[in-house]
Amino acid sequence: MSAAPVILEATGVRLAFGGVRAVDGVDLRVREREIAALIGPNGAGKTSLFNALTGFFYPDAGTVRFRGEDVTRMPNWQRISRGIGRTFQSPSIFPEMSVAQNLTIGIQSSFRLSLSLRPPSAGRRRELEARLVELLGFVKLERLRDRQVAELSHGDQRLVEIAMSLSTSPKLIMLDEPTAGLAEADTSRILSIVRDLHDRLGLTVLFVEHNMRFVAALAQTVTMMDRGRVLLDGPPSVVLKDPRARDAYLGAEESVRA
Ligand SMILES: Nc1ncnc2c1ncn2[C@@H]1O[C@H](COP(=O)(O)OP(=O)(O)OP(=O)(O)O)[C@@H](O)[C@H]1O
Ligand SMILES: [Mg+2]
Repeated sequence: MSAAPVILEATGVRLAFGGVRAVDGVDLRVREREIAALIGPNGAGKTSLFNALTGFFYPDAGTVRFRGEDVTRMPNWQRISRGIGRTFQSPSIFPEMSVAQNLTIGIQSSFRLSLSLRPPSAGRRRELEARLVELLGFVKLERLRDRQVAELSHGDQRLVEIAMSLSTSPKLIMLDEPTAGLAEADTSRILSIVRDLHDRLGLTVLFVEHNMRFVAALAQTVTMMDRGRVLLDGPPSVVLKDPRARDAYLGAEESVRA
């Protein structure tokens, strides 16, 4: 286990919806520059935990710390400005707009331009364009910049989302099922981009996945949730071989090969 400082720490986090204990006392630690995977069967509480960590919902109990700061009750946008980026399980981009327009929204929000009623200065526009080119280059979508997002393949849409989440210059990026519904070739593209997030941008990555090959190829640590709780936690060589993880993913192995 590396000795890098803990960047994200959840302690005793609980989140219930009515009678459903979606997250039922979870402890999770992610270290700086780590690639961490969160796995578990459908309904295990993975997305709910992400929601509690990102401030999409506040937990009913427990604490969330980011870079040592208690962010448990901090609104989502403040966490974003502290350096937490996220993509969603279902696409959260504007399908009727172009790739460039979508990314521009993300970049503007990080520049706080959206709060200003005045048109941006020429200098600001150049800065915005440079950032746009940089983000498009990172996800290798330069050629699609003026295409409507709705016309893109699912794989390209996922990459736009990743670029969107990068627009706010996060230190930690949280990806909820980045390869859901993607064919093998697109899964490989996402895999190489996620590796780049870590290797080239130096980001910490926490991702939820059902594709165990993807998990095995990327993750340095794996946490498995079941029914709102952490069932297993450790290096992939241990967790993915555990009969409890294998049982949960026996069915999923089929879809990995498909
Ligand atoms: N906004 C919500 N309102 C009510 N119930 C919810 C809400 N979000 C999640 N739940 C419930 O909480 C439980 C955990 O759901 P969650 O979406 O976190 O699981 P998951 O591990 O992400 O599953 P999947 O792998 O299918 O995405 C489920 O029983 C779900 O129905
Ligand atoms: Mg989910």
